[in-house]
Amino acid sequence: MKDTGAAHDLADRLLPQDPKFATKQCHAGQEPEQWSSWSVVTPICLTTTFKQDGPAQLHPMPSAKEGFEYSRAGNPTRSCLENCLASLEQGKYGFTFASGLAATVSCCHLLKAGDHLVAMDDMYGGTFRYYTKILSNLGVEIDLIDARNLDNVKNAIKPNTKMVWIETPTNPTLKVIDIRGVCNIAHAEKHKEQDILVVIDNTFQSSYFQKPLLLGADIVLHSVTKYLNGHTDVCMGALITSRDDLNERLYFLQKSLGTIPSPFDCYLVLRSLKTLSLRMEEHQKNGFAVARFLENHSCVEKVVYPGLPSHPHHDIAVSQGSGFSGMVSFYVKGGLKQSERFLKQLKLVLLAESLGGCDSLAELPCIMTHSAVAPEHRQVIGITDTLIRLSIGLENQQDIIHDLDQALNYAVNECTEDETSVTAAADIKAAQKASSNSCTQSSCCTRSNAAAHSNGVSS
Ligand SMILES: Cc1ncc(COP(=O)(O)O)c(C=O)c1O
Repeated sequence: MKDTGAAHDLADRLLPQDPKFATKQCHAGQEPEQWSSWSVVTPICLTTTFKQDGPAQLHPMPSAKEGFEYSRAGNPTRSCLENCLASLEQGKYGFTFASGLAATVSCCHLLKAGDHLVAMDDMYGGTFRYYTKILSNLGVEIDLIDARNLDNVKNAIKPNTKMVWIETPTNPTLKVIDIRGVCNIAHAEKHKEQDILVVIDNTFQSSYFQKPLLLGADIVLHSVTKYLNGHTDVCMGALITSRDDLNERLYFLQKSLGTIPSPFDCYLVLRSLKTLSLRMEEHQKNGFAVARFLENHSCVEKVVYPGLPSHPHHDIAVSQGSGFSGMVSFYVKGGLKQSERFLKQLKLVLLAESLGGCDSLAELPCIMTHSAVAPEHRQVIGITDTLIRLSIGLENQQDIIHDLDQALNYAVNECTEDETSVTAAADIKAAQKASSNSCTQSSCCTRSNAAAHSNGVSS
């Protein structure tokens, strides 16, 4: 049996991996015969325009049978990447965008004023901000719900519901939502006429560990910036579908909105994808090791890792994926001061936003990525002053654990009680003041519309 880092009985319960994944990541969409040079490495086609055989007669190419005319509408390097991404996700059609958020915006252009969108109440802060500050002003009706309870999804569907948007696991609290359950509700016979689209943000699991299209989703979204690129040097997004009608609509939106990535970035991502399976296996091994280590640490209040049986939706996570990434969140004992001391004391793990790269990163969502989420709403969704998000990278496992251990001991054990309570109280007050600046009407910070005051951009 392969060493996944997971307990052996767990490895047996996970969904099987696509046996062709590693071959696809190296070759899908990248056949040398499509180039006159038979180049093994996909060339970077920087051209913005293409010579035509006759007026409006495009020269046929294997990667885009109808040929290329102008790079916003189609580019050979981009096509190769899009075909590769579709293949890895076991979908038919892939589209790439200038960022994950550009993919989100382009996808939501499938909606029009008067349509209703149901979305999880806890997700990436930039998506929240786009929904509540921009999309809702364009006449799209939005309801934010806790989709862990499928009854909430059922009850939220209205006659004008056109899309259900789920991120799983969520950023940064790693909540797990039942993808099959959500799809069964949205695609139920009684809603057939409505054609409700289920969109799954698969960023935290990557195409390697979770394939939502096979579980019934209509569209998968990735912030390619994270695991798919994995080297912290490209901002990109992707949408993948198997539906022919959505292929046409998404292609039209990509070319009409112009939300495309550069050919150079497409080349970098193709290069990164060649090692995706290897990287994800290592992220998983290190993720499990860190999660188990933290679970037994006296300075840690609670660990959140979907791969551990202690996660409340561990069984659902196991039933819908073939493994787990390197995203681990935990609550440190103490208060804001301990969180800050821990992060400042880290020597190997870098204090920075973003995730999914080779380098281990740590961040404090309450005052970094989610700082502008109203404090009451942060409490409701579990983003407290002591929640720390780790993106466990590919360094030596013992080196990572040693670094976390020394920083935890320093932050919790070497900080005197007086110093802790005085400074923590002051810091919490300051953080609350900062948050209230972005929410001038305190009365409107109810559970769901607190998000409407979120400018927090979680990476
Ligand atoms: C889960 C998730 N979805 C979408 C995005 C947006 O991606 P990008 O930063 O590439 O625009 C992020 C960014 O952190 C994310 O974490």
